[in-house]
Amino acid sequence: MMLSRRHLLQTGALAPLAAALPKKGLAAGDEAWHAGADPRYRLRLTEEQVAPFGTPIQARLSNGTLPGQALRFTKGERFRVLVENAMTQPTTLHWHGLILPNLQDGVPDLTQAPIQPKAALYYDFTLQQSGTYWYHSHVDLQAQQGLAGPLIIEDPQEPLAYDEDVTLFLSDVVEEPVSQVMQGLKAGGLDVSTEGVFAQPDGKPFPTDVPYAGLLINGQPPASPWTRAVKPGSRVRLRVINGSGSSYFRVALSGASLQVVAADGSPVVPVEVENLVLATAQRYDLLVTIPSGSGYTLQVATLGLDRFNLGYLHSSDSPLRLDSSRPRFSGRALDTKALRAPWDTRLPDGPLKRFKVVLSGSMQRYLWQMNGTTWPEAYADFPGITPQRFFYEVSMGDQVRFDLVNETPMAHPMHLHGHVFRVLEEGQDPADAPLRDTVSVGPHDKVSIAFLANNPGKWIFHCHNAWHLAAGMAQAVRYVI
Ligand code: C2O
Ligand code: CU
Repeated sequence: MMLSRRHLLQTGALAPLAAALPKKGLAAGDEAWHAGADPRYRLRLTEEQVAPFGTPIQARLSNGTLPGQALRFTKGERFRVLVENAMTQPTTLHWHGLILPNLQDGVPDLTQAPIQPKAALYYDFTLQQSGTYWYHSHVDLQAQQGLAGPLIIEDPQEPLAYDEDVTLFLSDVVEEPVSQVMQGLKAGGLDVSTEGVFAQPDGKPFPTDVPYAGLLINGQPPASPWTRAVKPGSRVRLRVINGSGSSYFRVALSGASLQVVAADGSPVVPVEVENLVLATAQRYDLLVTIPSGSGYTLQVATLGLDRFNLGYLHSSDSPLRLDSSRPRFSGRALDTKALRAPWDTRLPDGPLKRFKVVLSGSMQRYLWQMNGTTWPEAYADFPGITPQRFFYEVSMGDQVRFDLVNETPMAHPMHLHGHVFRVLEEGQDPADAPLRDTVSVGPHDKVSIAFLANNPGKWIFHCHNAWHLAAGMAQAVRYVI
């Protein structure tokens, strides 16, 4: 049947899209402008200049902001997001940490064809989890250029008690064009000053290789600090997201006691600390009380660099009194090895598939590999190396175990899509091993992860250092029957 022009106008098919649609995210029940689709959010991806540290840089934005539009849903609800690519490069969006159908996972040429410039794609699936997640482009170095944002899923039966819900999206900014930075890394490395850099909580130095101009707290640079006033006496749930390209951030609230209640969206047995480190792509949920008449300086520092940024979280009856001194991070630091799940996370019986995964690399060539393979990514062009998609084959019901062995002097934040895994420290397998989606494997360290194969498809498994990934540090899990 030929559709009449009148019919097309009624369904909105002929209306210029940009004029017909509201610019920001839609609320449920808003004008049904997209026949049958009814998205909760419409994300318009653009290329724009921003200058958080003075020098204009070419950024990629989601609905015009850095970080991108925050997405907020309720567990059990349908995740309905329309992505419009108004950039000049193809893209995909990945919903980090979510257990979802494979074709919604947003990995280019593995789970979907990239969204071409001027094209749009609708992501739609049911949300099974609650907690603190994030989203980002999975193409090239677009996430490092800003194409990322918070993704919060509320629990309709929230077991935690708190008055305020505050998201802290932490990101890093590099001022040189990313392709130029990558060239520099491949040509033997960039000048990264070791003067006055922040060390790890145990005092060890933390190797880094990208000279970031600085870090942002919810998009705010040090020159215009992020602040938030809450009702006196509020108990605040802080959702801290490391949305960086490759930074590890150490975070404190000027020595306040922070109760860690979740890691990567999964609950943990609460632990009290004064500061903690988030590897790239990790998240922690923290509870903290803001007494009447007081306030805390939020301190965030980049390990291995001399960069830090401050914010202020205070009671509304107390003036802003930000302590602008360099963070010292005294008190207890979170020991990730001591994290415990609140329940038994052991996997149901099933065939054991165990794989050794060696993380290797050559700093000189900026070649980063898993078991000697290089995934075809934007900067995986090394003389004498043929990029290939390497798959670990598993079947439904398998207990899968990866023994990660880091043979390099850098830390690698390893992330598996579509699953949460148990984190097993060397030689240990406690019943209450914590669940995560991103685990950091320190320099020359070992860690194992174990998960139930219960979500068929092809799932990328990679280092979340954006530069390592762009150079090909990835493999994948493939379900076979
Ligand atoms: Cu944050 Cu491959 O993902
Ligand atoms: Cu890495």
